[in-house]
Parts: sequence; structure tokens; C-alpha cells
Amino acid sequence: MPTRILGIESSCDETAAAVVADGREILSSVVASQVSVHRKYGGVVPELASREHLRSIVAVVREALDRAALSFQDIDAVGVTYGPGLVGALLVGLTYGKVVANALGKPLIGVNHLEGHVRAVFLETLRSGQELSLPAVCLIVSGGHTVLYEAAASGPAEPLSAALLRYRKMGQTRDDAAGEAYDKVAKLLALGYPGGPIIDRLAADGADVSRTQAEHIDFSPTKVRGNPYDFSFSGIKTAVLYYLRAHPGLQPEIQERRLAISKGERAADKVLPLCSLQTLGLLVSFQKRVVAELVRRTLQAAEDTAAQSILVSGGVAANSELRHSFEREAEPRGFRVFFPSRELSTDNAAMIAAAAYPRLLAGQLAGWDLNAEPTLSLA
Ligand code: KG4
Ligand code: ZN
Repeated sequence: MPTRILGIESSCDETAAAVVADGREILSSVVASQVSVHRKYGGVVPELASREHLRSIVAVVREALDRAALSFQDIDAVGVTYGPGLVGALLVGLTYGKVVANALGKPLIGVNHLEGHVRAVFLETLRSGQELSLPAVCLIVSGGHTVLYEAAASGPAEPLSAALLRYRKMGQTRDDAAGEAYDKVAKLLALGYPGGPIIDRLAADGADVSRTQAEHIDFSPTKVRGNPYDFSFSGIKTAVLYYLRAHPGLQPEIQERRLAISKGERAADKVLPLCSLQTLGLLVSFQKRVVAELVRRTLQAAEDTAAQSILVSGGVAANSELRHSFEREAEPRGFRVFFPSRELSTDNAAMIAAAAYPRLLAGQLAGWDLNAEPTLSLA
């Protein structure tokens, strides 16, 4: 009989629940996004996030069980995110997870959200049959985090789904997270929210026309004193701001361009603002710089350690330029790069259930006094 873990995630602006068998097979994964609530503010509003989690959590967990065709009694354990994240948001999922585990008399496992992002990559490789070797350098890059870890097995590395890992933090952003920089630049240009996926698509268009017309700006490499694996993105964002001040009238037209929707795509993802070639050029240059920083420092970290693999996870891991760049540059240097699928890149609860599994096997259970830890770190 497989071990079925109910995962619950509510650290930021997605209410998510999932059931994962033996830490590797996703039986269901439900994500209720709050994007439409936060859109008009151009960022996540913590109080609104908590309120939305409260509204959704019960239904989301029920939906996850329904889709897995299971009842509460069929669950062997509950894994729940307890940090890092927004304290009010974390408390909703954590409290509900405790209530469920307590009522069922099943073990509770506290999961670090960042470890969840690492396990999302494992889930992907286990699903697709790719072979991932440890130790690895892990870049977790989202709207809330940009951090580099070295991850190694602390006991048997096989099977990967059951392996306990130890982490060493190598570097992190000194200011904005990369996703935050995308969102802020999109806000400066009134492109919409969240900015990452919009800029990703616009920059792809820009790169197409750039060969002929779009004007490129040379954002110089970011200097970060001290730790060579630390990042900084506020300078690039400010450079964009100054460029816009020097070039007034660079706002995109209010008119929108609707792209064809294919199966499985959301209509909202297919509406793009109409931009001038100059704006597209700016976006191409901004994205190039951000991606170059992420790739350069991650590859450096991999070269300086005994890493066999590079894992890239978090919302920004969905970025097409980032994926291409890593694939282009890592292989010649002897590293294999692994990304989760788009659904597993952004916040979800399957990764939380997967992270709970090795801890359950190792008897690392949480007490009922487990509390939310907004600044929880992984090392
Ligand atoms: O992991 P996630 O869902 O939530 C957290 O922030 O924890 O990541 C969301 C972030 C947002 O900042 C969003 O703009 C960014 O990831 N993002 C992207 C892309 N898709 C999402 N950034 C660049 N390119 C993308 N394709
Ligand atoms: Zn996240």
C-alpha cells in the first residue's frame, strides 16, 4: 500500500493542496490562485492574502482529496508549509493542517517552502524518468526568493524520493528577488501583473524584431562586493526607471493584443499589451541582464563545488530565456540542468507533500506546537 501524504501550502498568494503517493506520484494537485485579487495593487497584499486563504483552504483540500478519489481517512500523514512566507498566510494552512492531522490521528510534518521548491524538481525527474545525481546546486528563484543552495544527500541517496538532504546556503539576493524585479519593472511600464510571464513573452517578441529594429540598452553587469554567489536586482530595476525618465512617453498603448488560445492555456495569459519597438528593446535588455546574472553566479557556484547537477525552481524558473540560457551554457561545462514543469515551478502543494515524505520515513514529525516561521531558512 503506498504512503499517501496530503500536502498543504499557503505561504504566499496561492492556496494549494495535493496528495502524493510515496513522495513521487502526484495523485492530485489543486492550486487556487489569488492573482486577480492582488492584480490591481501590482503585488501581494498580505492581509488580502490571509483572507483569501481562509476563504479557499477547506474547499481546496476537499478538491485535492476528491480528485485523488480518496477520503480523509485514506491519508497517512499531513505535510504543511510552516515557513518562510507571510505569517498570516502561513498560519491559515498550518492551522488547518494541524486540525486535519489531529482529527485523523495522523502524523504532522512541517515543511520548509524552499525545500518544497527543490523537491518539485525531483518530482519532475521521477515523473519523466530523468536521472538526477547529487550533490546539486539549487537556484530557487521566485517573487519572494532568489537563493542558491548546495544540496547533498545526508544518508542513502536512493531512492531520491526518500533521500534526506542537507543544505548549505551559498548566496542570496541582497535586495529584490528576481521575480520581484520583473513585477516592479512591469509595474513601472503598466504592463500588468504578475510581470514575469508578461515580460517573458514580450521580450521573446522583442528578441525577434530586435535583429532589425528594437533598440537595445547595455545594462552593465551587477557588481556585488563580497560573496560571489550573492545577487542584486535593485540596480537593474533603477536603471530601467532612469531610462524611462529619460524617455517619457514609453508607456505601452492601452490597446491589447489577444493571442490565440490553445488547449490548456488560460485566456488571461494570452492578452499582451501593445508595445513600441523601443519598449520591447528595453524589456529584452532588462531580461537579458537578469538572466545573465542568475546563470553566471549559479554556474560559478556549480564549478566551485562538487555539484553534478543544477536545479532551477520557483516561479521565475518558468522563464523561457532563463531555460535556454542554462541549457546553452551548462552542458558545455559538464553540468546537467533540471527544471520542473510550469505547474511545478510556481507554488504548489505537491512539492510540499513530496518534501514531507522522507521526513515521515525518518520519523521527523512536528509537534502540535509547530508555529509559522516567516524567515525560516534552509541550511
Ligand atoms: O514561485 P511563485 O509562484 O511565488 C513566489 O513568489 O513564491 O513565483 C511568482 C513569481 C512572480 O514574481 C512572477 O512574476 C514570476 O515568478 N514569474 C516569472 C515567470 N513566471 C512567473 N518571471 C519571469 N518569467 C516567467 N515566465
Ligand atoms: Zn515559492
